[in-house]
Amino acid sequence: MSVFIDPNRRIGRIDPKLHGQFIEFLGECIDGGLWVGEDSPIENEHGYRKATLDALRALRPPLIRWPGGCYADTYHWRDGVGPDRATTFNENFATYELDPHDFGTDEFLRLCEMLGAEPWINVNMLSGSIAEMKEWMEYCNREQGTDLARERAANGHPAPYGVRYWGLGNEVWAGGGTMTPQTYMDEYRRYASAMPSFTTDLFTPTPMVAIASGPDGNKPRERVKWTEDFFRLLAEYRQPKIDGYDLHFYNWNIDDDRDTPTEFDEAGWNRVVEGCLELEDILREQWTLMNEGLALINEPEGPLDSKLDHVDLIVGEWGNWHKTAFLARPALRQQVTMRDAVTTALTLDLLQRNCDKVTMACNAQTINVLNSLILTEGERTVLTPNYDVFMMYRGHRGATALDVPRRDTESPVYVFASLGEDGRTLLVDLTNAAMYDAADIDLKFPVDVRLESMTTLAAGDPHECNTADDPDLVRAAGIPVGGDVAQSHAVTLPAASVSTLRFTVV
Ligand code: AHR
Repeated sequence: MSVFIDPNRRIGRIDPKLHGQFIEFLGECIDGGLWVGEDSPIENEHGYRKATLDALRALRPPLIRWPGGCYADTYHWRDGVGPDRATTFNENFATYELDPHDFGTDEFLRLCEMLGAEPWINVNMLSGSIAEMKEWMEYCNREQGTDLARERAANGHPAPYGVRYWGLGNEVWAGGGTMTPQTYMDEYRRYASAMPSFTTDLFTPTPMVAIASGPDGNKPRERVKWTEDFFRLLAEYRQPKIDGYDLHFYNWNIDDDRDTPTEFDEAGWNRVVEGCLELEDILREQWTLMNEGLALINEPEGPLDSKLDHVDLIVGEWGNWHKTAFLARPALRQQVTMRDAVTTALTLDLLQRNCDKVTMACNAQTINVLNSLILTEGERTVLTPNYDVFMMYRGHRGATALDVPRRDTESPVYVFASLGEDGRTLLVDLTNAAMYDAADIDLKFPVDVRLESMTTLAAGDPHECNTADDPDLVRAAGIPVGGDVAQSHAVTLPAASVSTLRFTVV
């Protein structure tokens, strides 16, 4: 197989926020995984589990969504600020634990500050209220000395946090209220209209970003109807503030009872690999529907104040969801093998390739839940192969996605490439999606390029995973390269592997 990579065929800038993460109070994602508390025997920095924090510091995720998910719709932010925290009970996704609220708004936003991540807060639209949302926003963002700004200062953060991204509702068609598009639109209008602007002059646009709950990406008929109805309803009246539209897509692996995260046959491997690729068609479909909706809103005979230039398409939750996660303890925990690492790589590739359509996306979830980057077990912390993929892909953040064929139909190798901001660095992802066979590929360029480095993530056996006893069994490694300068470079890829190659245009 050969692939032609032309640095002049450009799609657009890869928003770093496509590499976002999602953390929620489910299972041991936050309590236990990210947060252990200052009095814990587990090594911590001001309560954050040190090993998790260090791993995230190295990764520097550009965006983190919190507190849910479904949990957001039971969350009252006041339970988690100040010296006296509430204790509630967390029933979400069968977590079934007391909820001590030690990790709250300040702990989340300090984490984002430490990591240089943009926070995305999802408000409680189900059991919360508009007043609660407003006060939460005021607490986070008000600069002037209001009571809430002074309360934030008393809790250790005099300066406003400047949280820009606010989600209004989560999966409102299911756990978030089983709403119809009409009932959601009625609620959405009220919440969006009540958002403070945090500007002090009439002509400066609000920096606040309102994100609406988009469709269930896994349901073909429903997702089309949801988006058609949502945008039609937006067009029917003077539409409220809306900046983003949050689609969720899980790669469900629930059809074969014998299939577990670590025990699967080739059919199971192929099913999961192919499953993740559906998201690319869904993004194109939703993008088309959103543009049709915007055209309706902007019809010349429509009311003047209904003009709406653009709404960002966002994937607020994505990842593999294996059947065993439903009964797992802690809730939703699943192991991660090269099968998951390959689908993580392919998903990042497809998000990056569609960077002209999608601006933000969050892996679900970062620690101990579903498509994890980090697993913890008592005192021990393990980085999964997914962590390596995100690390290997950091060079794409802010780069320009190139229009390269996704794959040659004859070959199991998937390709993605970007051109760095310096205009000379080419980062090429090569994922060999064949479970057992190595693959050869020729990379061809219109100019001379030097192969500077190659990193490969592969396992001795595709069922292998990292455990507390063997934490580095599946780890990315640098492959020696000769530094050749040529217009054609031949590469051999191990079976079930993810590689990134860095070239310089000479
Ligand atoms: O990520 C786990 C759950 O999946 C989230 O809480 C919810 O939004 C989705 O259904």
